[in-house]
Amino acid sequence: METIFPPVADFSAPLLHWYQENARILPWRDKPTPYRVWISEIMLQQTRVEAVKPYFERFLNALPDIASLSVVSDEQLMKLWEGLGYYSRARNLKKAAQVVMQDFGGSLPASFELLKTLPGIGPYTAGAVASIAFGIPVPAVDGNVLRVLSRLAASPENVSGAKVKKAVGDVLSRLIPPAHAGDFNQALMELGATVCLPNGMPKCEVCPLQKLCEGYARGIAHTLPVKDGKKKRRIEQKTVFILLSDGKAALSRRPPHGLLAGLFELPNVDGALDEPSALAWLAAHSIDARSAIPLGASKHIFTHVEWHMTGYLVQSAQQPEDFLWRSLPQIEKDCALPSAFRFYTKILCEELRMMV
Ligand code: ADE
Ligand code: SF4
Repeated sequence: METIFPPVADFSAPLLHWYQENARILPWRDKPTPYRVWISEIMLQQTRVEAVKPYFERFLNALPDIASLSVVSDEQLMKLWEGLGYYSRARNLKKAAQVVMQDFGGSLPASFELLKTLPGIGPYTAGAVASIAFGIPVPAVDGNVLRVLSRLAASPENVSGAKVKKAVGDVLSRLIPPAHAGDFNQALMELGATVCLPNGMPKCEVCPLQKLCEGYARGIAHTLPVKDGKKKRRIEQKTVFILLSDGKAALSRRPPHGLLAGLFELPNVDGALDEPSALAWLAAHSIDARSAIPLGASKHIFTHVEWHMTGYLVQSAQQPEDFLWRSLPQIEKDCALPSAFRFYTKILCEELRMMV
């Protein structure tokens, strides 16, 4: 299907003016060095601004520059990312930092094309860093920007395809004011995040672009953008164990590939086990317990799968080598536990704290 993105009026002046008055004060905006912009843009992928803020400050304090990021231990890196999700983002940050140390003299290259060659940096992130940190007039097209442009143009195009992304990039390339590339791109993201809201909720009554918006004029803004239908997520039942023994808790390592690769986890098994089955599973792992206290259910939603969990608390006399036995200080310092287990890790930490 050969189609072209509909024309859009030049909205750059009212957009920039609005941004100067309405930009949120965000930690990475006051000193937009290439490193800070890069870290913030990676953290902001699939993650809300409010959730990112505390992580950003802590990460920059621990790893203030590319050199320190390039040599951080994987344990500390995962600990700094613990709870943010999509952990390969952090691993790619470290890989890219190593490339920058080796090939670029320790500084991010001031080039859209070279930025794109770094691990974890695609067209969006390259465009954001190039424009915000270096003032290079290139677009940065994320979901917010696709939504705003689709509505401004009243575009019936499906934004899930790569073609539309490219077409929106081409439209923006012609509109970016060369002297204000970073502000222009951030202003579009900001409008999408605070005014031209998703899920059929645009606040057109306060929008600085209302007079130029074809979607608004036609009364169809709330129906845009057109997207692929969401696939249904697979549901997995799991039984999670809090195993305590002599002031320590049992952890395991997740496999090196796939979901939450290489992170720590609470011992768990597929299926919703009743108490006798749970005790049998423990016995198979050399834990001889007479009872298990049910902890209730918890749910975690990933992109493609949902975990529906039940859990048991068990006091163990043995510390078999099937598991990694860790004290609370060891866990707090070195063991990144994904937030999928949060309901149970909270109980675990309370139990360990009471034992001290
Ligand atoms: N989302 C991703 N990057 C952003 C930025 N620089 N400002 C606001 N929202 C964003
Ligand atoms: Fe979005 Fe409404 Fe503004 Fe158009 S007028 S850009 S739909 S908020």
